[in-house]
Amino acid sequence: MRLLYPPLPAPRFHPVPEYPTIPRHIAVIMDGNGRWAKERGLPRREGHRAGAEAVREVLDACKELGVDYLTLYAFSSENWNRPEAEVTALMALLDRFLKEKAKDLDAKNIRLQAIGQIDRLPAKTRDLLDSIIARTADHTAMTLVLALSYGAREEIVSAARSLATDAAAGRIDPASVDEAAFASRLQTAGIPDPDLLIRTSGEMRISNFLLWQISYAEIVIVRKNWPDFRHGDLLEAVNEYQRRHRRFGAL
Ligand code: IPE
Ligand code: IPE
Ligand code: MG
Repeated sequence: MRLLYPPLPAPRFHPVPEYPTIPRHIAVIMDGNGRWAKERGLPRREGHRAGAEAVREVLDACKELGVDYLTLYAFSSENWNRPEAEVTALMALLDRFLKEKAKDLDAKNIRLQAIGQIDRLPAKTRDLLDSIIARTADHTAMTLVLALSYGAREEIVSAARSLATDAAAGRIDPASVDEAAFASRLQTAGIPDPDLLIRTSGEMRISNFLLWQISYAEIVIVRKNWPDFRHGDLLEAVNEYQRRHRRFGAL
């Protein structure tokens, strides 16, 4: 009999992966800055300014807990569609945050990384970012990943494009492309997938964040707006994570 398809490989036993009690990687969709400001009759940029303060607290809480990676969704690819004045205010805040944080990250042994289309950021911001990334590259206590001008679909398309380019040039065999090969072309290559995904302001959506990486992340939605998020709220979210039974499709 002629085989129409190559025979299937023998089934492999996939044990349920071990998962950490303290999430190794926490990813946060910091949402609700605008609403926080509106409730107080303040301009939106005041909400963003207060949001930057909340970042400091969460960063310290994660370090104390022993979290290895904290990824913060600070600016999405779609956020470029906001009014120019808001985008300018956000970039100015990012500059200020980076300037203020540079010494602190260094002193706390925290490594900075960035994902997203960094080349779309203003040159000044990019230079600042590059210099802090280089300066903290060997730090080992924790990694802070800033998602800036980040869009997951864009990231996935760009990984597919780079694999296709290599395959067309004969550098890789298309049959060798597996999940690991694909993940290695994403901007998060080398970073473990998030264990816990937090979104503030009560919205129940992903908004183009880490679509590939959150396959089995535990999702915690917090009602508070991001500028009100404190140390204790992070501990509560981790507590909620610890009460979950992660099954990874098994039992
Ligand atoms: C999150 O707050 C910060 C960014 C997206 C940059 P928003 O600005 O989205 O605030 P809301 O959702 O309008 O309240
Ligand atoms: C997601 O929030 C992006 C960031 C937090 C940076 P948005 O406020 O932009 O998302 P939508 O518009 O509510 O989906
Ligand atoms: Mg929002």
